[in-house]
Amino acid sequence: MSTAKSEYKRVTVKSLVDMKQKGEKISMLTSYDYSMAKIVDAAKVDVILVGDSASNVMAGHETTLPITLDQMIYHATSVIRAVNRALVVVDIPFGSYQSDPKEALRSAIRIMKESGAHAVKLEGGCEIKESVKRILNAGIPVMGHLGLTPQSIYKFGTYSVRAKEEDEAEKLIEDAKMLEKLGCFAIVLEKIPAELTKRVSEQLSIPTIGIGGGPYADGQVLVIHDLLGMTHEFNPRFLRRYMNLYEEMGNAISRYVSDVKNQDFPNEDEQY
Ligand code: KIV
Repeated sequence: MSTAKSEYKRVTVKSLVDMKQKGEKISMLTSYDYSMAKIVDAAKVDVILVGDSASNVMAGHETTLPITLDQMIYHATSVIRAVNRALVVVDIPFGSYQSDPKEALRSAIRIMKESGAHAVKLEGGCEIKESVKRILNAGIPVMGHLGLTPQSIYKFGTYSVRAKEEDEAEKLIEDAKMLEKLGCFAIVLEKIPAELTKRVSEQLSIPTIGIGGGPYADGQVLVIHDLLGMTHEFNPRFLRRYMNLYEEMGNAISRYVSDVKNQDFPNEDEQY
């Protein structure tokens, strides 16, 4: 099994299936703006997700529901300008695909046409089958998303682990197989037991990307603000923080404030 960083010059939906076949794990991270996406792309992250988690981390909403299609397109457009290598996938936001398949296709087309993104992601299984089919028929690559689906938070009532019971696990496996059969190129599995991620990943030829789904997924995804430790109040068990940027940024900003107050900034070299 390969553990090396991918040598792909430009990651495509086909590269991801190749990676699964070769046993190379797929790295995926969110980005919502140009500057962050530049850093993430240069670090050779395979897939950049312009997630509707922008609603939480960029806009400060409690859920992902309020973000609009126009706002997602704005974020996606900024990310696309920065990216040379990664595959850029954009979430279709709540309220812009659930009514009917035509609305779903219109939203997917707007994302692809106006932002230049490479693929879209939708939450759900058999309930959204016709929408997924219609988007795929238009030639737009689709990533699925099963398990904890934050756009349905008010239906479930909590962000706790999903599909712990066998009947829910069976339904998730059926949904995953259906999404694969329709032609989805990958599926995000959010907050489900590790053993269920293993069962799904073994039964599919397309890659699974886990978040809180344990080590057996074909790839992993995190929200960039969580990985960097900017969201210090969010502490799920699955999260590994690689930095404490909340503290580091706070310290840097406090130093700037004192330098201004003490008239240490700007100094002689920092003026014209
Ligand atoms: O919106 C998002 O960031 C996501 C990931 C958590 C998978 O959907």
